[in-house]
Amino acid sequence: MEIRILKNEAEIGAAAGKLYVDYINANPDCVLGFATGATPVPTYNFLVDEYNKGNVSFKGVKTFNLDEYCDLPKNHKNSYFTFMQENLFSRVDLNQNNVDFLDGNADPETESKRYAEAIKAKGGIDIQLLGIGRNGHIAFNEPSDKFTDEAWKVTLTQSTIDANSIYFDDIPMPHYAMTMGIGSIMRSKKIILIATGSSKAEAVKNMIKGEVTPQCPASVLQQHDDVVVFLDEAAAALL
Ligand code: PGA
Repeated sequence: MEIRILKNEAEIGAAAGKLYVDYINANPDCVLGFATGATPVPTYNFLVDEYNKGNVSFKGVKTFNLDEYCDLPKNHKNSYFTFMQENLFSRVDLNQNNVDFLDGNADPETESKRYAEAIKAKGGIDIQLLGIGRNGHIAFNEPSDKFTDEAWKVTLTQSTIDANSIYFDDIPMPHYAMTMGIGSIMRSKKIILIATGSSKAEAVKNMIKGEVTPQCPASVLQQHDDVVVFLDEAAAALL
């Protein structure tokens, strides 16, 4: 893993964003895996700024996303599909036909197969963006006794419900989600993980310095040969 410790979220957004701009310009038809949550927002803002300056185009880019809530309409204001539209997709020249998302309302097994085949048909994910949960989860793969493979339906843990409930003001937060599995994430050619803030410090330490165990799902990234980890000083404090 390559670890880059920067001062703050804005610096990380610019550094991670620059990596994307260069990659997209060199590979305009690339396949990108995106992530939701607060962490990637500065990166998405940087990408939108670069698009507005004419420095990058998303016309040929194909996208997948890590996860989506179950039992929530696709266009609900708290769906991850809406999050991506608002934070990136509708703000750049991405072709909406090139956006693929897990359907949290479909039959989980059928949807898992569909997603795996769709990723394969596009030649695999070139760069997968990740955040990390306070409990070491990546996507919604929570601590457990085994690493998962393809996309699956997960029961969210209390730690994740506590962290994300703040975003739900009209309905209770869903307790289930469809998530890419660890295998699907690990098959990405390159992985960029961003963690900011002291609440992530313990998980970051376990990911980088701990043993590889499904009890800290992010620790599996030690076994991937192209991972760049962007940290601010608070998230890196226990290294
Ligand atoms: P956050 O979520 O960016 O909102 O902290 C990251 C995650 O849970 O993977």
